[in-house]
Amino acid sequence: MALVLTVAQQKGGAGKSTLAANLAVALAEGGGRVALLDADPQRTLARWHALRPATAAALRFDAPSGWRLTGALDRLRREVEFVVVDTPPHAETDSRIAIRGADLVLVPLQPSLPDLWASEATLALAEAEKRPHRLVLNRLPPSGRLRDVVLEELARRKAPVMAESLGNRTAFGTAFALGLGVTEAAPRGTAAEEVRALASSLRRFKA
Ligand SMILES: Nc1ncnc2c1ncn2[C@@H]1O[C@H](COP(=O)(O)OP(=O)(O)O)[C@@H](O)[C@H]1O
Ligand SMILES: [Mg+2]
Repeated sequence: MALVLTVAQQKGGAGKSTLAANLAVALAEGGGRVALLDADPQRTLARWHALRPATAAALRFDAPSGWRLTGALDRLRREVEFVVVDTPPHAETDSRIAIRGADLVLVPLQPSLPDLWASEATLALAEAEKRPHRLVLNRLPPSGRLRDVVLEELARRKAPVMAESLGNRTAFGTAFALGLGVTEAAPRGTAAEEVRALASSLRRFKA
């Protein structure tokens, strides 16, 4: 049975599509069967996937809208090892369906208070649907006052946060523009190292 990872966050620009694409690629490294589903009508990942070179690791890709997502998940659960779902930037029907179908909801969070506040609706939705969820800190600076403030606030709230985080790295945008993940475009870079660490930690959620 596949592990279904839904990437959700009502705030646009938080890094949902970046995280979904890069995780799917990293989880597929070594030949794992991975499906990537784009449930965002903006079709960011559909366009990214269309750019993928023929030599890149194969991903099962689909862009099912609305209730078709539930059927696609049911089918893929039996056929692949990991399903990664990207969702639109709001907490409405499409996100709810994707969250409901998740084994684990990943909520990318940039370290700022507006982003933290915006994540509350997504975390509440995951809680309402009784789905396990984790925040993934994205564009996290290595040090600084804002980092400290946000990390302290997350600790105070006892928010579920993945220990692995992603820094603010141009490699993400560069790889994306080529239809690649950072582990493919710059496999020795820091961004690739971070994505691999996150992917290997997520593998442990697979029963
Ligand atoms: N860790 C990162 N470092 C640098 N740029 C990033 C990072 N994560 C996302 N971005 C950039 O931020 C922008 C928004 O990211 P995106 O994944 O499209 O967000 P969302 O899907 O949540 O709207 C994109 O230009 C992307 O390249
Ligand atoms: Mg997106």
